[in-house]
Amino acid sequence: MTYTEKIKESAVFIQSKIPKTPDVAIVLGSGLGDLAEHIQNPIVMPYSTIPNFMASTAVGHKGNLIYGELGGKNVLAMQGRFHFYEGYSMEQVTLPMRVFNALGISTVFVSNAAGGINPEFRVGNLMIIKDHINLMPNPLIGKNLEEFGPRFPDMTRPYDLELIKTCKEIAVKLNIPLQEGVYVGGTGPTYETPAEYKYFRIIGGDAAGMSTVPEVIVARHGNMRVFGMSVITNEGFDFAEDFVNDENDVVEAAGAAAEKMTALFTEMIRSL
Ligand code: HPA
Repeated sequence: MTYTEKIKESAVFIQSKIPKTPDVAIVLGSGLGDLAEHIQNPIVMPYSTIPNFMASTAVGHKGNLIYGELGGKNVLAMQGRFHFYEGYSMEQVTLPMRVFNALGISTVFVSNAAGGINPEFRVGNLMIIKDHINLMPNPLIGKNLEEFGPRFPDMTRPYDLELIKTCKEIAVKLNIPLQEGVYVGGTGPTYETPAEYKYFRIIGGDAAGMSTVPEVIVARHGNMRVFGMSVITNEGFDFAEDFVNDENDVVEAAGAAAEKMTALFTEMIRSL
């Protein structure tokens, strides 16, 4: 089966399970699956039941696609995503984005847990992703899928400026402090060395992670509107003598901030 046929097969399956085209797709990162608990009248599709979807092996990722209502809109949420470091190909990592596009979804919200590299950032901060730096293989390498988008996609405004403005307005109303910055996407699975965090800072990054960028590139290729948010789960500077990066701490810190992100996403979706 070709990649395009797989996309269609997955889309047809999901379409058969849901009553309406979702207004927005949401990708929930490490420890951020909590938002899914707020979805009303949920239809839960475990990834293992969806043709061509993989198993979600990463810590803090449940592995369900959930349809339902949030903020008065129809949403389709990924509770857990696929990462390049899990050994999946970029085609596999970004298949859900292609499927969302094929389903006719025009807006995608992506979230992740990330390491703060801007020294102003603290654990628990929420960061609007205003731009990114891709340090992974580009997911569009290979034959261009003409039915989705052009060979050389523009990346001048990867993150929708209107959605960023809406997020800031809602954050003021909800009294949720926000950071804004550049997400640097590396392959992982190692956390960065102190020199690498410094390097990410020097090249213009504010937060470091191992996801999101491939999905955003593919979503933009297909001309979907993208909003991205990082939850700062650790600080990549001023390391205490006994500091170590630990995935359980990352998931815990993300979980502690998940409620704030859920509130923001819900009100942003209401305003769509
Ligand atoms: N680096 C890369 N990915 C991450 C980090 C980090 O410090 N924290 C959470 N995901």
